[in-house]
Amino acid sequence: MSESTALLERVQALQEAAAAQIETTTTAAELEEVRVAVLGRKAELPNLLRGVSELPPAERGPAGKAANVARGAIERLLNDRKAELSQAEEAKKLVADRLDLTLPGAPQLPDGALHVITSTWRDIEDVFTGLGFSVLAGREVESTHYNFDALNTGPTHPARAETDTFYVSDNVVLRTHTSPMQVRAMEIYDPPLYVVIPGRVYRRDYDATHLPQFHQVEGLAVEPGITLSDLKGTLLAFAKAIFGGELDIRLRPHFFPFTEPSVEIDVACFNCTDGWVGGDRCPVCRGEQWLEILGAGQIDPNVLRAVGREEYHPERVQGFAFGMGIERIAMLRSGIPDLRLYIENDVRFLEQLR
Ligand code: DAH
Repeated sequence: MSESTALLERVQALQEAAAAQIETTTTAAELEEVRVAVLGRKAELPNLLRGVSELPPAERGPAGKAANVARGAIERLLNDRKAELSQAEEAKKLVADRLDLTLPGAPQLPDGALHVITSTWRDIEDVFTGLGFSVLAGREVESTHYNFDALNTGPTHPARAETDTFYVSDNVVLRTHTSPMQVRAMEIYDPPLYVVIPGRVYRRDYDATHLPQFHQVEGLAVEPGITLSDLKGTLLAFAKAIFGGELDIRLRPHFFPFTEPSVEIDVACFNCTDGWVGGDRCPVCRGEQWLEILGAGQIDPNVLRAVGREEYHPERVQGFAFGMGIERIAMLRSGIPDLRLYIENDVRFLEQLR
């Protein structure tokens, strides 16, 4: 066998061995190792090529050519395998990194929600705007004129005592109710007047059923010929909307300086409408079957006179007024036992009322 035949066979064998090795690689790093082993400076094939120069001149051509062809073939195999491997790696990465945009996000902060006083405030406003009332805001720092005198509440009335009312000065108070807006509204707007006035009020009280600061909604309807039955119809619609269902209300005689006649309005206990079967007595109404929800009445002529406008002369217009506590409405609606829960801001309480 001539030297060149032996060399050609060796080239052939090396090429086949390289092809087999390349075939079995599974990573780019492995492939690189194979490349160094097969074509690197110390590898056999390149060194065989160097040996070509020692062959007889006539054999150099074909031997060199064969070795170069083999080298070219191996390089092509290496490149192809490299492309295959990187494609496979890319595909694997894509599978591993797959992002499902339809999955819900990982919750990090709990959702916020309106405080039960705010949502009850808004619910009450909604009912009355639905009945055609407008919403007004009043001032929290109020004169004794609007808070008391104009409301037929004379200088000796016990509500004026410093033990009940926060005084800013002799004739300025933190309003003790939203009622001062009655006369203010009539001073500004002409009849017919249908307004509700929600807002904060202040009293010197603090226990399970009284807070020093709480919220009320005042209502006022003034127009010639308004009677107490208009009041009843309006507040029946309100009670049904707020407490739900076909419940009844009743008017109980009462006294307020600014209304005559005055009533307290009770709503039939929605917790034991069909009879109480849960034990002793219904915990919501304590067996009374009625729940007091607000004070109201026919506007006292003295209040209309305090407006001092011909348009509101008691011979020309009549009206009804009412005032309710937002805390109380929410308390009844959600069975809240202690007013102080509203201001402690314990999320375990607040979350139950979202
Ligand atoms: N202002 C009264 C209170 O705070 C509630 C009230 C009663 C308002 C009768 C009225 C009314 O407008 O007519 O207790």
